[in-house]
Amino acid sequence: MAKPVLLVTRRLPQAVEERAAREFDARLNQEDRMLDRAGLLAAAAGADAVLCSPTDRMDAATIAALPASVKALGTFSVGFDHIDLEAAKARGIGVCNTPEVLSVATAELAMLLILAAARRAGEGERQVRAGKWVGWGPTQLIGTEVSGRRLGIFGMGRIGRELARIARGFTMEVHYHDIARLPPEREGGAIFHADEESFLAASEVLSLHAPGGAATRHWLNAERIAMLPRGAVIANAARGSLVDDAALIAALRSGHVAAAGLDVYEGEPHLNKGYLALENAVLLPHLGSATTSTRNAMGFLALDGMAAILAGGAPANRLA
Ligand code: DGY
Repeated sequence: MAKPVLLVTRRLPQAVEERAAREFDARLNQEDRMLDRAGLLAAAAGADAVLCSPTDRMDAATIAALPASVKALGTFSVGFDHIDLEAAKARGIGVCNTPEVLSVATAELAMLLILAAARRAGEGERQVRAGKWVGWGPTQLIGTEVSGRRLGIFGMGRIGRELARIARGFTMEVHYHDIARLPPEREGGAIFHADEESFLAASEVLSLHAPGGAATRHWLNAERIAMLPRGAVIANAARGSLVDDAALIAALRSGHVAAAGLDVYEGEPHLNKGYLALENAVLLPHLGSATTSTRNAMGFLALDGMAAILAGGAPANRLA
């Protein structure tokens, strides 16, 4: 029997591409050329499935224009704010993502952002590289410890809960805000706040782990930043759209927010240039899930999901 045709929009880890080539008639993108809408639609001609990534805008118009042969859409990500699920449903295209397998890697990266921001690691590294470090000094680059501090987690899903686990090792007191309280046995001692005001007031360190999309766009705005304790540290390894950049930049300038560690940006890779001038912003290039084992697991999960959808199944990672 002929293998299903799979269009892969980005270069993937070697082990994933090898498996894709074994199990599908795979159209790989080994030069990692970014496809615009026209390029993607042309490349999808005759394909049964498309494996996209967060850099592909799978909006209603693109999905509506996909060739009729496309029956499955996988994304190499847990986030799916780049995919119009309703449009996919309307077209009868099954969609799957890569939950669970990246939670540990992304939570570790969030902790890295928190520590790097609190301990001024970016500033220190820049000094050393620029040959500006004049040697140890009692008042040099003094930051703040996170151990024993209060950590606020906005969005207590899988990644938020992994960060809570890591933070407990740092003896942080974990607070969280989400649409609903977790069952107590899954809270791991974290303190739920139904209202944002008390949650933000408790958050000496605030880490964002909610999904992107219209419902959370610019959730961290000037009003909510003002509710944080002065000198708070902020980390974002979720989606850039959660943050009103102008408000955060103003707070980093005024010192109301002591430091921020950011891995994601609204409109990335084009981030607000205001961040670049700020010593108290640690800026990483969307590395949350970037470990070999995690990226391989993401690829395998997406391939499994698309194969199951094409076979008429409902895999656990099916979104639509
Ligand atoms: C995701 O999975 O949504 C990330 O942003 C990419 O690792």
